[in-house]
Amino acid sequence: MRVVEVTAYGGPEVLSMARRPEPEAGEVPGKVRVRLKAAGVTMADLRIRKGLYADAIGALRPPFVLGTDFAGRLLDPAGELPAGTRVAGFVPWFAELTGEGTYAEVIRVDPEWLAPVPADVDFTAAASVPLGAVTARQGLEKLDLPPGATLLVTGASGVVGRFAVQLAAAAGLRVVGVSYEGDENELKVLGAEHVVPRGEPAKVLADVLAHVPDGFDGVFDGALLGTPVLAALKDGGTFAALAPDRTPTAERRIEVHTVVGRPDAAALAGLLEQVAARELITRVADVMPLEEAAEAHKRAESGHRPGRIVLMI
Ligand SMILES: NC(=O)c1ccc[n+]([C@@H]2O[C@H](COP(=O)([O-])OP(=O)(O)OC[C@H]3O[C@@H](n4cnc5c(N)ncnc54)[C@H](OP(=O)(O)O)[C@@H]3O)[C@@H](O)[C@H]2O)c1
Repeated sequence: MRVVEVTAYGGPEVLSMARRPEPEAGEVPGKVRVRLKAAGVTMADLRIRKGLYADAIGALRPPFVLGTDFAGRLLDPAGELPAGTRVAGFVPWFAELTGEGTYAEVIRVDPEWLAPVPADVDFTAAASVPLGAVTARQGLEKLDLPPGATLLVTGASGVVGRFAVQLAAAAGLRVVGVSYEGDENELKVLGAEHVVPRGEPAKVLADVLAHVPDGFDGVFDGALLGTPVLAALKDGGTFAALAPDRTPTAERRIEVHTVVGRPDAAALAGLLEQVAARELITRVADVMPLEEAAEAHKRAESGHRPGRIVLMI
């Protein structure tokens, strides 16, 4: 089968098409196979490719197959889902460390990672949801803020940030987003009460605190800004960081959480139902063939893009 391998840590040019044997039914106990139709290009994929997690990956060294988010069709039955069911999910790449990511025609997955894809959500849209939406939800759960509390979302124009804005607003939080300039109106439609443009940290801080002068109850740090954003919180507030290397040290009784997205089939099924009902908006910035994974990575790191880039398999 066709796969995309990381041949060495480095820039997008280290991604290379290769052929690997297609997994066979029952080869790994407890795992089922999915024939993929689409794989999202996540920021985690970019960070792994660059070698930023080389220490965490331990003994696993290139070449390995990259990729986290996926959508496709079950080749084997999985619990109550018959073969042929359209499913989506994400591979917890770090927990598994098999090097068998989703830039591949067929993957082996734990049935517990899989959610059925509603009929009116296409594969590319479905592949843009799993890691981003589940992480946003789990980050908000860690923050554990009551309705009416104030939440600052950095990277609100990003994939995770946009889901966080929508889910937080739906839970009754008062959301201020830091966004790409030009996205303000869209983020307000998605539920942000106020939106300020990204920029120089002191200016952004002043702009967000102009809306919430006493300081925020929570921060969801979708842009991985880390320590400088702590100043936006009131004493005893809570902070959700999305990467261990961008997790600030707690101060002023602030609770700091590092969020690591974990598969949750029931949560993902609910989120995909919300997408189908247009209660949760997902955006696909670009759809590119698997063969153009290196170009997709170049685009993903070349600056702002409205949503997830998805590889078509
Ligand atoms: N821990 C986990 O389990 C987990 C799961 C998913 C994602 N993540 C991490 O979370 C981050 C967000 O993921 P994503 O998929 O949402 O990525 P994304 O779509 O690229 O979003 C990142 C956002 O941050 C903004 N940004 C970047 N640098 C900024 C700066 N200096 N000031 C203000 N805004 C800035 C970007 O702004 P522009 O739009 O202007 O470029 C973009 O909107 C990634 O780093 C990813 O690795 C972690």
